[in-house]
Amino acid sequence: MQYGFFDDARREYVITTPRTPLPWINYLGSESFFALCSNTAGGYAFYRDARLRRLTRYRYNNAPLDQEGFHLYIRDGGCVWNPGWQPVQTELDAYSCRHGLGYTVIRGEKNGLAVTQELFVPQGDDCLLMRVSLRNDSGAVKTTDLFPYLEFCLWDAMDDGSNFQRNYSIGEVEIDGAAIYHKTEYRERRDHYAVFWSNRKPLAFDTAREAFLGLYGSPARPEAVFGAGCTGSVAHGWQPIAAQQHRLTLAPGAEERLIFGLGYLENAREEKWEAPGVINKQKARAMLARYADNAAFDAALAALGQHWETLLGVYRLRSGEEKLDRMVNIWNQYQCMVTFNMSRSASYFESGMGRGMGFRDSCQDLLGFVHMIPERARERILDIAATQFPDGSAYHQYQPLTKKGNLAVGSGFNDDPLWLIAGTDAYLRETGDWSILDEIVDFDNDPTLAQPLLEHLRRSFGFTRTHLGPHGLPLIGRADWNDCLNLNCFSEHPGESFQITGPSEGPVAESVFIAGMFVKYGRAWADICRHLGLADEAAEAERAVAAMEKAVLAAGWDGAWFRRAYDAFGRVVGGRECEEGQIFIEPQGMCVMAGIGKESGEAALALQSVEDRLETKYGIVLLQPAYTRYRLELGEISSYPPGYKENAGIFCHNNPWIVCAETELGHGERAFALYRRTAPAYLEDISEIHRTEPYVYSQMIAGKDAPSFGEAKNSWLTGTAAWTFLSISQAILGIKPTLDGLQVDPCVPSFLRRFTVTRRYRGAEYEITVENPDGAEHGVSEIRLDGRALSGNILPVLEKGARAQVQVRMG
Ligand code: BGC
Repeated sequence: MQYGFFDDARREYVITTPRTPLPWINYLGSESFFALCSNTAGGYAFYRDARLRRLTRYRYNNAPLDQEGFHLYIRDGGCVWNPGWQPVQTELDAYSCRHGLGYTVIRGEKNGLAVTQELFVPQGDDCLLMRVSLRNDSGAVKTTDLFPYLEFCLWDAMDDGSNFQRNYSIGEVEIDGAAIYHKTEYRERRDHYAVFWSNRKPLAFDTAREAFLGLYGSPARPEAVFGAGCTGSVAHGWQPIAAQQHRLTLAPGAEERLIFGLGYLENAREEKWEAPGVINKQKARAMLARYADNAAFDAALAALGQHWETLLGVYRLRSGEEKLDRMVNIWNQYQCMVTFNMSRSASYFESGMGRGMGFRDSCQDLLGFVHMIPERARERILDIAATQFPDGSAYHQYQPLTKKGNLAVGSGFNDDPLWLIAGTDAYLRETGDWSILDEIVDFDNDPTLAQPLLEHLRRSFGFTRTHLGPHGLPLIGRADWNDCLNLNCFSEHPGESFQITGPSEGPVAESVFIAGMFVKYGRAWADICRHLGLADEAAEAERAVAAMEKAVLAAGWDGAWFRRAYDAFGRVVGGRECEEGQIFIEPQGMCVMAGIGKESGEAALALQSVEDRLETKYGIVLLQPAYTRYRLELGEISSYPPGYKENAGIFCHNNPWIVCAETELGHGERAFALYRRTAPAYLEDISEIHRTEPYVYSQMIAGKDAPSFGEAKNSWLTGTAAWTFLSISQAILGIKPTLDGLQVDPCVPSFLRRFTVTRRYRGAEYEITVENPDGAEHGVSEIRLDGRALSGNILPVLEKGARAQVQVRMG
């Protein structure tokens, strides 16, 4: 069942009922001011850091769901309603929500009044704008009251939700005409404030929640809206809010527009005050003036549109397959950018108060956005590398505000170092900017330990190479990609961290997955060395890679698939002798992507085993059979009920590994069949089962062992975005950046007889048309660049500004 439709021309998803199976959200902002906005105008705003600079409140895990946000109450005659339906839930005569790229438009109609809320964050500014348009479609004059409402957060979201003995006494606001200033703690150590404003003077306002909602009232029934209107309350302590009451009289057919804003501003210490106790509002006034009228609002919205046009112009597909085009051209790339901005911090499943930036997560996210924002990817790589230790290991997480490694979690996740090679290699292949390797980067955030980035990569490779276990496979440490496979943890007490309890440095437990990574990214490292003229080092790296390949085929091969690991007692994990967890997806994906067993047949057998044992109608589950009891020696993975998360859930992140692996063997038909199985646009029709947004990937879909098989959770912030983009754009459609230029190597399903990719690459634009008259799955017989036949399938790097027509014939 569908709850809306894609409007590809406008790059929007249009939701046609407010009762979606879960709140379906969008992200506003792409620099420093951000807001999450659901299809009923729920959500919250923050500046840079969702924990430390939370601007408005949001109550996770609440009932009813999704009450806080950017709500608007309409009181028209005796009827109170919201254009987004929530929180009052008055039935609407018409409703729609258009989630577009960085903006959301919610529209509700009731009794002949149409109200539209347009929300976005303008480029280059720290505010959320909301334009409200009211049109009287009834035949009579209407006098309508309009109440915008939001609740301020006292900056640190964690403290705000726990330290009530202090917080109930510190809330402060200032009111200045049509603006409400939130200035809690500004009197002492904070040099920032928030402002809510409108471009028209309100009839009345409230800044104390108790006055607006009523002490025992709720957002669903605010006393001020249902009763005598706003009271002019001034918050002292308790819960500061911003609410206004506007009264509009509309003749039949008349339309009015008001602009509201929520801004964040900082003042230098010496310029904090205008008068004793009064905020210096100069910057806020300038901000208000910037968006005083509709022309300014429209111009800012147009600039946002241009921004996305540029970003999405780097890779454009015309395949004739509607769902595929919309995933590739719009939503998958959009989600990649959201993971760049948010990492894993703020979504409707991530509270914004939890983890910082993950080392491995950030390196993988990079694979999905490096083509759109190479300069920022460069900066990101250098930030990540600075949290690496001199021995090549790395802090598992770092904080975005300080860019410092997170000591509480520490290091010991032994896949981390190799992901730095993966990310940097992707950057080099995209940009050809070798100068990044000369950048001097701290180790352990300590400038006295700084070395060129090249040395960081060398130590990444060296770390894995020198931390091998009894079978010559890499030691797993606290965990590898699978955070929940904790072979050195042995946690027995509730509340302990599964990863950092116990002797994490175990000298026995090994990972076949990291071995696969070592082969794949070790080869990338060797290529980089060779490119730099370091022939001996390249050859040595290749020898180490070859030895690892041998170790995998000897100790990591189970007969029909790759094993997952060896535990702390040297016992196989992910092998046929295991009672449960006999086969895992990760090593099948990574080892085949690395080409292990490609010639000798193991790779094909492994993928066959995935099909036979792990595939379901909703995607490939992580392992089988699911663990049915907690196993101390395996850790968190066995803590989940069967079918959820890493315990045999469909972990969408590694489904594209199998897609890539299938293309490694030339199986285009199969690769695409798997690609579409988890691609959101293809799941739109089963939204009542899938439940999360049909325009973005979720981290996990419940596996076949779960009662809710097919139900997705944790949408938006997942490495799935980057990997699926890679799998479709590079592995299937075959447009692959290499160190030497753009390679064309499609591996497609037979129905795809012709497609065109327009690719901006290193400053030039290539329009690549692939013809596949005989429905071949793989193989290119001819390539012409501007009419000239090329030998090989790598397009040369052209001059900046050049445009080339490329004709490719498969078969
Ligand atoms: C984490 C990843 C991890 C994955 C699998 C995600 O929640 O962010 O770092 O690889 O889970 O455990």
